[in-house]
Amino acid sequence: MKYASVTDRLAGLGGAKWALHARARALKAAGEDIIEFTIGEPDVPTPEVFIEAAQRAMAAGRTGYSNGRGEPGVLAALAARYSARRGRQIGKDQIMCLPGTQTVLYAVLRALVETGDEVLIGDPMYATYEGQIVQTGATAVPVPLRPEKGFRMQVADVEARITPRSRVLFLNTPHNPTGSVLRPEDIRALGELARKHDLWIISDEVYEDMIFPGVTFSSPLDFPELSDRVVVACSISKSHAAPGFRSGWCVGPAEFCARLLPLSETMLFGSQPFIADMTALAVSNPSPVAAGMAERFANRAEMFWRALDGVSGMRVHRPEAGMFLLIDIRATGLSGNAFAETLLDQHKVAVMPGESFGDGLSGWLRLSLTQSDDKVIEACRRIAAHAASILEKAA
Ligand SMILES: Cc1ncc(COP(=O)(O)O)c(C=O)c1O
Repeated sequence: MKYASVTDRLAGLGGAKWALHARARALKAAGEDIIEFTIGEPDVPTPEVFIEAAQRAMAAGRTGYSNGRGEPGVLAALAARYSARRGRQIGKDQIMCLPGTQTVLYAVLRALVETGDEVLIGDPMYATYEGQIVQTGATAVPVPLRPEKGFRMQVADVEARITPRSRVLFLNTPHNPTGSVLRPEDIRALGELARKHDLWIISDEVYEDMIFPGVTFSSPLDFPELSDRVVVACSISKSHAAPGFRSGWCVGPAEFCARLLPLSETMLFGSQPFIADMTALAVSNPSPVAAGMAERFANRAEMFWRALDGVSGMRVHRPEAGMFLLIDIRATGLSGNAFAETLLDQHKVAVMPGESFGDGLSGWLRLSLTQSDDKVIEACRRIAAHAASILEKAA
């Protein structure tokens, strides 16, 4: 049978990048005692207050059809939140609710690019971004994010890759997997470049509320001169420990949202009113769990750094936000894939190979910071033993 070309473009870009995680889960299901640092699930359950809010809304009959843009209550709550946080008026007509950042990015890219267009994207990148871009027919153009620059995107690196086909500069701040946070001066310089070349800026800010102590978050939405070209994507998945609710939104120019609306209506025919009510409550107050997660994750990142940086030539990159930490294992001579596979087999520790996040992380590992401190201590011991035995064998 004949299939549309999108199935070819996406082949290998879905679950294939998570093969090690799937293997670790299978080993766990078979009774093995695996310490798992692969995916980024919040380390606390969804707060009871949000579950009760969704239940109350369901019991009150908020289970009918909605509309393609979002329920008025959640749009108003998001408009108030963004106006307060970004220091300028953001209206309800500049917001659109969709099921999670993942769907937001899918729809936003669909609305902005197509075959023949190019999207400039930092490498390393979150594992699903390449698929998000190529589903549209556009090409992902990787912009190297350099460890020596704190993995923050550099204007010169973007400029060198701009062509007449460039349409979108795709940012992610705070960044997964590197944990870097763009500074206002980074955004200003990247924004000037975007204006010069008439590029849209997409900014995935799903970790906005998980900034480590001493770091400040800035968004391209902070810059009024960029307001006609910025689209921010976000959700309650991480900040409110509620990934299963699939509740996200984008914030962008009113005209952009108006054009996106038929796409959302075609795709979804509206989202769930009881989830909209729960989300309105969630975004109207500071998250009861985000600050605690950020504090715990920052502490665990320090634990990894103290235990492993410099050990057997490994270098630990200290994140500024989010849920992940990177370890450079190139000194062992192994790829991230080979190190992670053998670590799982020999030491029962599951980590993600850097290669799953782009060529820029070949020879690195990504670890989630969501396991208990005790497990972190034990994993550090096993990772150090593994690296030492690899070096010993090579000597
Ligand atoms: C950078 C980034 N964007 C988007 C997502 C997906 O978010 P959501 O659950 O809102 O679809 C993730 C999840 O890990 C992520 O790390």
